[in-house]
Amino acid sequence: MAIARRMQVIQPFHVMALLARARQLEAAGRSIIHMEIGEPDFVTPQPVIDAGHAALTAGHTHYTPATGLPALRRRIADFYRVRYDIGVEPARIVVTPGASAGLQLVLASLVDPGERVLLADPGYPCNRNFVYLFGGTPVSLPVDAASGYQPTVQQVRDNWNATTAALLVASPSNPTGSLLDLATLREYQAIARAQGGHLIVDEIYHGLVYDTAAATALSVSDEVVVINSFSKYFGMTGWRLGWLVAPPLLVPELDKLAQNMFLAAPTLSQHAALRAFDPDTIAILEERRAIFQQRRDFLLPALRELGFGIPVTPAGAFYLYADCSRFTRDSYTFSQQLLEEAGVAITPGIDFGTNRPEQHVRFAYTTSLDKLQEGVRRLQAYLL
Ligand SMILES: Cc1ncc(COP(=O)(O)O)c(C=O)c1O
Repeated sequence: MAIARRMQVIQPFHVMALLARARQLEAAGRSIIHMEIGEPDFVTPQPVIDAGHAALTAGHTHYTPATGLPALRRRIADFYRVRYDIGVEPARIVVTPGASAGLQLVLASLVDPGERVLLADPGYPCNRNFVYLFGGTPVSLPVDAASGYQPTVQQVRDNWNATTAALLVASPSNPTGSLLDLATLREYQAIARAQGGHLIVDEIYHGLVYDTAAATALSVSDEVVVINSFSKYFGMTGWRLGWLVAPPLLVPELDKLAQNMFLAAPTLSQHAALRAFDPDTIAILEERRAIFQQRRDFLLPALRELGFGIPVTPAGAFYLYADCSRFTRDSYTFSQQLLEEAGVAITPGIDFGTNRPEQHVRFAYTTSLDKLQEGVRRLQAYLL
């Protein structure tokens, strides 16, 4: 079969093979502790589910405008006012089928074939594939504990050349949970602006921040493009709903592309999400945030005690990115062994880039404290 050449560079998630094997082992009766899964274990808050039911009953089954339900765009704008104390015009908000679609819309509309996009490495694996899809070149900026697992301003400056279209960062990041402060975001934006390029900030893990409040990159400049989603903090992965905030001149381009690529985000999900910002839903989400924090505060010292290197306390998301070189020189085989022999599933570093992936694994605390405790017991018995 003739498959397009561009498909040769698109990578699958390696963790999917591990997850499939974990399910196979479970089907055969083995107990597996899942610390590989990148989505909240909680179901969507009940008020949102009820709103989804009500939307179906009311017959809201048609397309919405490509940029989203006007009421939802207003609601999101309102959320920025309440949570971050900044004004965002609803007209700058585009509702998308998840942050995934938001990233694709933005990269498709800002990156020309042959242009470079700077990405943190390790980072969210899909980003480089999206860049490839649109004919661009992902440029990996190696990050580590010394830079708080985010690109340094110097790195961005040194790597930005005439063919660079954008810097794409995530705060908090997947897989490291690291946050960007406002001063760094300002410097990134100053470089992007001076070079005639763009700063794109993925804020999908906003809300899941434990030690300090996260500042939104929107407070730096109206020129920054911000991606967000209902998937993580709002616990709505399966509803496939997100949003982005763009400079006014970009919105008609995104609108045009969204019309062509997917017509609109799911209508049912958009109606349900109208309830996502109400105080009763937020109260549920904040309880969950506290639970995630409790899990992080258990798992982080426990893994360090076992000998995993996690030099910087991750401020957000639900991941711990750990150096496993004390145990192995091949984190992929190590992850397979932990699954087969200890019944613990984690994600190997290879899924997140080319910067020493063989020395790293990602633990997700998207399972109960009891299960995490059992996971640590199993690791201890296996490793020590
Ligand atoms: C950093 C980051 N961005 C974007 C996404 C895509 O999320 P969604 O399409 O569910 O909103 C994910 C999912 O794991 C992620 O970790």
